Amino acid sequence: MSYHKINRILVIGLGLIGGSLAKALKRKQFATLIAGFDMSPDEVRQGLELDVIDEGFNELAACVPIADLIVLAVPVKATHQVLEQIKPLLSSHTIITDVGSTKANVVAAARDVFGAIPSGFIPGHPIAGSEKSGVIASDDQLFVKHKIILTPLPESDPSAVQQVARMWQATGAEVLQMAVERHDEVLAATSHLPHILAFSLVDTLAREQDSTEIFRYAAGGFRDFTRIAASDPTMWHDICIANKQQLLNQIDNFTAGLAELRTAIEHTDSQAMTGVFTRAKAAREHFNRMLTRSAYSLNRHQDHVTFRVRKAMAIQGNTRVPGDKSISHRAVIMGALAEGVTLIRGFLESEDSLATLQAFRDMGVVIEGPHQGQVKIYGVGLHGLCPPPGDLYLGSSDISMRLLSAILAAQEFDSRLLGDDLLMTKPMVRITQALRTMGAQVDTADGGVPPVNIYAVESLQGIDCTMQVPSAQVKSGLLLAGLYAQGKTTITEPVMTRDHTERMLQHFGVDVQRNGLTVSINPGQTLKAADFNVPGDMSCAAFFIVAAAISSNSDVVIEQVGINPGRSGLIDILRLMGADIDCTNAADLNGEPVVDIHVKYAPLQGIAIPAECLSASSDELPLVFVAAACAQGESLLKGAAELRGKEQNRVQAMTDGLRKMGIVIDNKNGQISITGGEFIGAKVDSFGDPRIAMALSIAGSQAHGDVLITGCDHVASSFPDFVEIAQKIGLRLQKEET
Ligand code: S3P
Repeated sequence: MSYHKINRILVIGLGLIGGSLAKALKRKQFATLIAGFDMSPDEVRQGLELDVIDEGFNELAACVPIADLIVLAVPVKATHQVLEQIKPLLSSHTIITDVGSTKANVVAAARDVFGAIPSGFIPGHPIAGSEKSGVIASDDQLFVKHKIILTPLPESDPSAVQQVARMWQATGAEVLQMAVERHDEVLAATSHLPHILAFSLVDTLAREQDSTEIFRYAAGGFRDFTRIAASDPTMWHDICIANKQQLLNQIDNFTAGLAELRTAIEHTDSQAMTGVFTRAKAAREHFNRMLTRSAYSLNRHQDHVTFRVRKAMAIQGNTRVPGDKSISHRAVIMGALAEGVTLIRGFLESEDSLATLQAFRDMGVVIEGPHQGQVKIYGVGLHGLCPPPGDLYLGSSDISMRLLSAILAAQEFDSRLLGDDLLMTKPMVRITQALRTMGAQVDTADGGVPPVNIYAVESLQGIDCTMQVPSAQVKSGLLLAGLYAQGKTTITEPVMTRDHTERMLQHFGVDVQRNGLTVSINPGQTLKAADFNVPGDMSCAAFFIVAAAISSNSDVVIEQVGINPGRSGLIDILRLMGADIDCTNAADLNGEPVVDIHVKYAPLQGIAIPAECLSASSDELPLVFVAAACAQGESLLKGAAELRGKEQNRVQAMTDGLRKMGIVIDNKNGQISITGGEFIGAKVDSFGDPRIAMALSIAGSQAHGDVLITGCDHVASSFPDFVEIAQKIGLRLQKEET
């Protein structure tokens, strides 16, 4: 049997849901006939008067035989009876669906009535409603942007499922599919349990002797929590019976959780209480963001952000930049794996670092904050992580995925790492291959991209490896895995990359030995909690360093920036070009060198850029292009063909953008030549890469004419205050949203 075009739809039961569906379908002219049946002649009459239905019926025999699709919009407990009544009247091609809020009992009713489930029987549940009832309350917008869950059965015909889905989509709803059991379980947790709790709480309080007093002083919290206790008692009675087992399971779950919290309160167990409250707060905020479709950070996600840049005069003043991203990730990791409580200050609240933080919360680590850059982590020790309740979702943070892959490879539980669409295309091969040499069981999707599946193994083995391609992320992953391995782990890098992990491990009391390009770690060591101040991010400061270096009369100081030797290549390159950069107030911040960076304008000269400087400025490559484009004469960048994938993409994006701004760039035989010149106004694309967007903004500050940079949506989540700081020090940059 194949179910094709639907001409005549019959809605049985013209209440709020049935009436609203009929009205919406009629407005959309979804079928040639929208008929309505109701036991009450008044409802049918009103349905016709209000133009909710084309034709109305009080007799099933008069309408069921002509229908191609029947929607049962009756109370769930009436389903059995209605199915019995319509059964002899059905034609062989009729599709039947329903709107009941529990599904297992609807399916049981159908099985009982029909013996075998008909292939055109497709149970459904619209997650929509209102406190109003009756056909008079019909609202053709009721389902717009609401979810409809269909629970097709193995017997269901796919073409019938498709027809029912199309019908709901016509009302503006989003259609999902779920197994019957899963539906009832999910609804028990998200709808039925909260209603039961609200009813029970209000009833319990109302029975107390001084209940009037209590209610008189009950403030907003009570009102918010108990609004749903005013719902229809009969309906909730029926739902409790219809979804009894799933609801009991959820009540038991909840009771166990409440008992744990009670114990924590009884014993004044602050960590346990804080754990419950911080996890719940993070989960609730995550839920809010899901509703508004933004991700982890408070920066509202923006679609279609464009930057408009005008020629800057001089870049001046003192400023600070946000906490270092690489270090923020690592501070959360080490704090979580340490024994004791770690306080982090200056934590970068970007999407990426928040993804790492959330992953550890999901693995049972109690984390307070972030609040104004402060995060308090109740470390669980190297062996204290718990299996996460589901897959770990890491947004667009590839660094979270690589570092966590390494830590998870050493745990006694399996795990799976996922991310957003962009992260799901990023290569994970280097880290997974390296971990496999330690005996880890890790796999990815074809092409080495996420998801990363990690399976528990007995133990990891220490390795002695020479990395072919430099990567601080892979090196860091191996060092962290090495803490869990049997025997020493030794890694030799082809060039020195940022050594934040090594320095931070030492700060947390772990012995890490370095000898030239070789670094080693022994297992069996514990991390001891240690407060941590995150230095300013060199990769953020870099934009303003270059802005000042290329704008006449500039004089800017960027305070307390981390100047790890693996990160300071840009400063070396700029100095070779003749930039006036002075590093003052040098200090040691938890083992990381920090300085104030003082930049004054000085004319730049084109140079042959030394390869060793490039490796210590890999994230700043787009800015190297900008500086070269502002220098006198030609700059040469050799070995472009050997650049890694992410750098190649950035080279291409910067080449495209700067060429549009009038700069001459040649890329031949693996050598890139950039000739400094005059910038003209242009519309350029950042390809959604925040570093490209920001680098092109700095280039735009030299253009005669406006520069429009498209695709700047992710800048706010990568460098939260970029626009504000840029404006403060004199860049003429505006954010435009479409
Ligand atoms: C990072 C290392 C670098 C860098 C990335 C952050 C880190 O990547 O590009 O933004 O925090 O370890 P590689 O590991 O590819 O060098």
